[in-house]
Amino acid sequence: MTMNLSAASPLLQDLLRSGSPLVKECIQLYASSPLFRNAEPDELLIHDDPYRRPVRTDDLPYLDFSGPLRREDLTSYPALVAHRMLLNIYEADLLFLPRNNGGRDWEAFRAFYDDRSRILGEIIRGTLEDHVFGFLREEVETSGRWSAAALREYFLTLDEEAQRAEPTVTEAILRASGRRKAATFFLLQLASDYLSEASAMGRNLLGAYGAPQSELFKILIDEYGYGVHGSKHSTLFEETMASVGLVPQIHTYWQLYLSTSLSLTNYFHYVSRHHAHFFKYLGALYYTEVTLAHACAHHARMLRAVFGEQACTRYFDEHVHIDKHHGRMVFDKLLVPVLERYGDTVVEDIVRGHEEFRALQEIADRDLIAQIAWTDRVDEYSATARRLIDEIDQGKHRWPSDTFVEYLDERSTTHVHDEHRLLVIESGQMKFWPAGGEPLILGPGDTTIIPRRRLHGSVILSERCVYHQPVVPHDVMTGIGLAV
Ligand SMILES: [Fe+2]
Ligand SMILES: [Fe+2]
Ligand SMILES: [Fe+2]
Repeated sequence: MTMNLSAASPLLQDLLRSGSPLVKECIQLYASSPLFRNAEPDELLIHDDPYRRPVRTDDLPYLDFSGPLRREDLTSYPALVAHRMLLNIYEADLLFLPRNNGGRDWEAFRAFYDDRSRILGEIIRGTLEDHVFGFLREEVETSGRWSAAALREYFLTLDEEAQRAEPTVTEAILRASGRRKAATFFLLQLASDYLSEASAMGRNLLGAYGAPQSELFKILIDEYGYGVHGSKHSTLFEETMASVGLVPQIHTYWQLYLSTSLSLTNYFHYVSRHHAHFFKYLGALYYTEVTLAHACAHHARMLRAVFGEQACTRYFDEHVHIDKHHGRMVFDKLLVPVLERYGDTVVEDIVRGHEEFRALQEIADRDLIAQIAWTDRVDEYSATARRLIDEIDQGKHRWPSDTFVEYLDERSTTHVHDEHRLLVIESGQMKFWPAGGEPLILGPGDTTIIPRRRLHGSVILSERCVYHQPVVPHDVMTGIGLAV
């Protein structure tokens, strides 16, 4: 049943149409908040400011958010920008207080929650959601007839699979030559969600829907440590971060989140913000509780192997135990009662939520492994870049190339390119930063490769820096084994 808008003014019709020119304008306006401006020279990390979230607004006029991305484009630049904006929109519903008591802190607090920003965010939200989650409608197969018994059997099989599953991300970290860097980068990805853990769940707790509501409330109470701040799951994660030298503050590492890590946090907000998706939420919740119980055991083992005694793994140890319990609670106390009540009407949404989140998790795992694979082998990429540049100079390749001129302290907010690019410095000096890896100080003649879809940033260290970016064809990168 859709609302009949034919009597509404053309302006209003346009405003409510996903991806319309008016919505495009609202995206520009939304992102023009000073809180979302490009990163400043000293803002690789963002300290003491939960509201400051650079979005690279200069690029927005060139991006098209209308229509769903394909599955293989979830690591693309538009996906990254859309997810950054979506998290900002969703988190305007959560409460973060200023860390300090200065005038600028309160100014940022008011700007983050102001009505203008919230209204614009609501207008553009549907377009952005459809852009990054729309592909799930086609990609995820949930056909067939589902009964409660079939669902139980299906979930049991998956649970067994999860127990046997290869812990691919933790294995990639343990295999990396820079294990500490890789493990740290992994923790940063989790920080986008875990530092305000279970906030999306909170969205499903108001209202009145019978006994399942009270059961969900019990899970929320666990997540929030029964009101004991030291036991709140986000506090446990803060301890993990601090134990390995990370700053446990909301979005200090904003620029380092991969789009696919943001997709996991955003998906739970997406299905919790729209209450029509409640049954998808339940399916996704079951998936995450059950798989986390297993994954957390691998994560704790990996952190101890990488950091030794220094690592506080209480967060992960706690989840091995509690999420097994939560998985059972979600099934017995939430899924079974709603299936008894609504049966076929909701079972497909439950399966769909489960499968959608599973797909997003698999995509995120692969993306994280690819980012680690690049940052762990940057020397190899730089050596190959040298060879390719020599070949270009010898006239062996005629690849298109962009030239850039930037000035002292100019920082590029972290981003990805949708093609493989060589980076070669003509004059001046740049600090180039493969997200999660060691920064490179590049001077005249220095070069490296930025593989497509890999997160990076830079800052200019000289008065002026001229650099070139020849685009390397994908088959060339594949041929030399460097297309992560
Ligand atoms: Fe938790
Ligand atoms: Fe849990
Ligand atoms: Fe770049």
